[in-house]
Amino acid sequence: MRILFLTHAFNSLTQRLYSELTTRGHLVSIEFDIADSVAEEAIALFKPALIVAPYLRRAIPESVWRQHTCLIVHPGIVGDRGPSALDWAIQGGEKTWGVTVLQAEAEMDAGPIWAAETFPMRSAKKSSVYRNEVTEAATRAVLQAVENFALGGFVPKPLDYADPAVRGELRPLIKQAERAIDWARDSSAAVLAKLNAADGFPGVADTLFGEACHLFDGWAEDALRGGQPGEVIAWRETALLRATIDGAVWIGHAKRAGAAVALKLPATQAFADRLENIPEAPLVGWSVAEGQTWQDIRYEESSVDGNAVGFLHFDFYNGAMSTRQCQRLQAAYEWARAQPTKIIVLMGGSDYWSNGIHLNTIEAAESPADESWANINAIDDLAEAIIRTDSHLTIAALQGNCGAGGCFLARAADLVWARDGVLLNPHYKNMGNLFGSEYWTYLLPPRVGAEGAQAIMQNRLPMTAKGGVAKGFLDACLTSDPSAFRVDVARRAAQLAAAADLSERLQAKSDKRQADEAAKPLAQYRAEELSHMRRNFYGFDPSYHVARFHFVQKSPNSWTPRHLAIHRDLGWSVPE
Ligand code: COA
Repeated sequence: MRILFLTHAFNSLTQRLYSELTTRGHLVSIEFDIADSVAEEAIALFKPALIVAPYLRRAIPESVWRQHTCLIVHPGIVGDRGPSALDWAIQGGEKTWGVTVLQAEAEMDAGPIWAAETFPMRSAKKSSVYRNEVTEAATRAVLQAVENFALGGFVPKPLDYADPAVRGELRPLIKQAERAIDWARDSSAAVLAKLNAADGFPGVADTLFGEACHLFDGWAEDALRGGQPGEVIAWRETALLRATIDGAVWIGHAKRAGAAVALKLPATQAFADRLENIPEAPLVGWSVAEGQTWQDIRYEESSVDGNAVGFLHFDFYNGAMSTRQCQRLQAAYEWARAQPTKIIVLMGGSDYWSNGIHLNTIEAAESPADESWANINAIDDLAEAIIRTDSHLTIAALQGNCGAGGCFLARAADLVWARDGVLLNPHYKNMGNLFGSEYWTYLLPPRVGAEGAQAIMQNRLPMTAKGGVAKGFLDACLTSDPSAFRVDVARRAAQLAAAADLSERLQAKSDKRQADEAAKPLAQYRAEELSHMRRNFYGFDPSYHVARFHFVQKSPNSWTPRHLAIHRDLGWSVPE
């Protein structure tokens, strides 16, 4: 079936639905929702059997929904309507939430229902619930609705508020006044619920050190306390600790209103000039700290019959890895290598494994070109340390999505296992034709062949975990449930640690590295990649800087990239 996606952006949910539907043989083309006339033009060109709107920020025009079946994905339970569905659900402490696929009609979100799914609500950031529970439920619901549409004869169920099973209601856009934290009254749990409901957009409007800002990325703290509610009482790496009436919460990120470049940044970077009198609360070592606290890098070990496995977690916000974060992670990795283990599992974070260099900290730097250079070198150093490891078998366990250089950092490990449902974007071109580094020219071709590597880099399309295994980029696609995935990873890693042939495997790995080095030294791959990157960062063509600016500022789209809008390809004609 020809399916047109009308969407605000090619975000993670849209990418997932795109991958699932194309895998099932549908022909999917994408048009960004820019103007009514643009949508009408896309329909005239593509002649879709069905229109799906995975992520829209405004109503579908009447000229479109009157003539075509348009299925809207709404991140709310049946009957829920309005633009702040998840925000209200999280802030209000809903225990169960859901996704509804409904047909577009005159009244927004009130059309008949094609499919609906529910899920238990997790206490987590809105962005995390969206990328996990909402995405999974939306995938099930859309696949069901598309199947019903394809079979024909399905009659969607009108929304009926008289039905006792309909729990949702129409709710307005949530305002900052309703998100506001009352530091003199709100408990830590209430503060965290408000921060979670507003993450990653738009954040909670507040003040820090007397200056207006938006707060993001809240974390619980069990032990540290003191000071007046609302006061900043400590800092650690990128986060600030603020007192509440019953304890304290960490604020990981902030957007400072008066800053020269108003960007969401690590909180200690956004307010770097205000930390002089604030005590640092460092964690000693890399092992998992006791109780709840904010810890972006943590190491734990498990042992079966004396065969120990080290797990290195790095939960960086949005999977972005700044120069310092790469350096700290490398220090933690070297430390992990010195432990009495033979296997290290690189766990990344629960939402993202890595999205490569940190584009926001680069944008905020005095010289973005210099900071890009420092950051790419730091991530390359880390990748190199992993590639050169001959003491351990290394495994990258992708619990969450991975983008650009993050994918090749994962591929630097001997084995890459992904959770089913994870999406990879192992290409760089979307960021202003960036050439990319992280030793991708060494790591990718042996896995997927020279032509396969070329296709992945040029096509710029997402890869599912199953697709990644089929292409040879990944070694295994494991269960989709996040906790079951972690258990399975630990079990498989323990089996590898106990395997009789582990030393032979390590020897073979070391031999292969030596042979590779003799054929072409790693330093040469790096120098070649970085010569391109130097041109990207410092050269005449500013494409990377322009693309990065629009990415971090979230500039609205003014056109749909041609690799997504196949109906706009030269030579496109509707297949017979
Ligand atoms: N640096 C800083 N922030 C990043 C980032 C990076 N490398 N990658 C993603 N983010 C942020 C986004 O700005 C967004 O921020 P928000 O919390 O303010 O909304 C958040 O992560 C989620 O990103 P989004 O694009 O909405 O997620 P997605 O899952 O739909 O898309 C990617 C994932 C990886 C395709 C997309 O984020 C991307 O292209 N990232 C850039 C990758 C890159 O070019 N890295 C540099 C080269 S190594």
